Amino acid sequence: MNIQQALEQARETLSKNGESADIDAQVLLSHVLQRNSAHLIAWPEKELDENQAASFLQLIEQRKQGLPVAHLTGQREFWSLDFSVNNSTLIPRPETETLVEFILQKFGDRKNLKLLDLGTGTGAIAIAIASEKPAWQIFASDISKQALALATKNNTQHKTNITFIHSDWFNNIKQHDFDIIVSNPPYIADNDPHLQSGDVRFEPQGALTAGKTGMDDIKHLCAQAKKHLQKNGWLIVEHGYNQAQLVADCFAENAYAQVEQREDLSGHTRMTAGKKV
Ligand SMILES: C[S@@+](CC[C@H](N)C(=O)[O-])C[C@H]1O[C@@H](n2cnc3c(N)ncnc32)[C@H](O)[C@@H]1O
Repeated sequence: MNIQQALEQARETLSKNGESADIDAQVLLSHVLQRNSAHLIAWPEKELDENQAASFLQLIEQRKQGLPVAHLTGQREFWSLDFSVNNSTLIPRPETETLVEFILQKFGDRKNLKLLDLGTGTGAIAIAIASEKPAWQIFASDISKQALALATKNNTQHKTNITFIHSDWFNNIKQHDFDIIVSNPPYIADNDPHLQSGDVRFEPQGALTAGKTGMDDIKHLCAQAKKHLQKNGWLIVEHGYNQAQLVADCFAENAYAQVEQREDLSGHTRMTAGKKV
């Protein structure tokens, strides 16, 4: 079996999975061959050896069963950096880059800044920011020890300098002088039907859901963050597009100022930021 034949066979097997059959096949074959997609295009007639063919067909079968591509390769790109991923936490999503962009645009000229990423998962937000702003003091926490182990591995791989804290939200956060508290917390409603399809079936509930309306964790963060922000410090959270009003109400009830909201390019998520005055 050569590269072209492998891709054609995989496309056919995965075509019932939806629109991503082509790209899934390419990513999985690139992973097996340890080559980029340009190699697949340049060398369609190159033969796979027996081990490569067997590994590829096994991955395609697993993908057919629904396993996320990121879990099969153990990798996902975020902010143009490769992150190790596993089933202990969320696979980083491109829409979360909106939070990173917002922070760099709004605070990018600050030489020193103290930031906390709550519910860091793979470390995506904290590591992306630390890679751009090595002089900032960056802390990141999670309730899941396995997620923290993964984030620590990613921090080492990217040579960023982050202090990790095992904590149930603010329970173990001793500092009260952060300039920024950022979070992509769980915000899906417990009974949301989307939980039954796609990659989320393989991600932990604890990284995804937050009560009946999905607002439980955001409400908690909104109320508690002020104790850990210094004056003029900012709370910045990601949430669903349909939670924009609920989150705005929450920021208003807790007297945050200069509240602003942004939509990501896909329109699926929003972020809300507000200042402690
Ligand atoms: C939606 S995921 C976001 C992960 C990562 N920040 C990202 O954007 O890819 C939410 C994360 O919050 C963590 N989490 C859930 N409940 C928590 C709690 N009570 N305290 C701290 N972290 C929590 C989960 O373990 C998970 O890693």
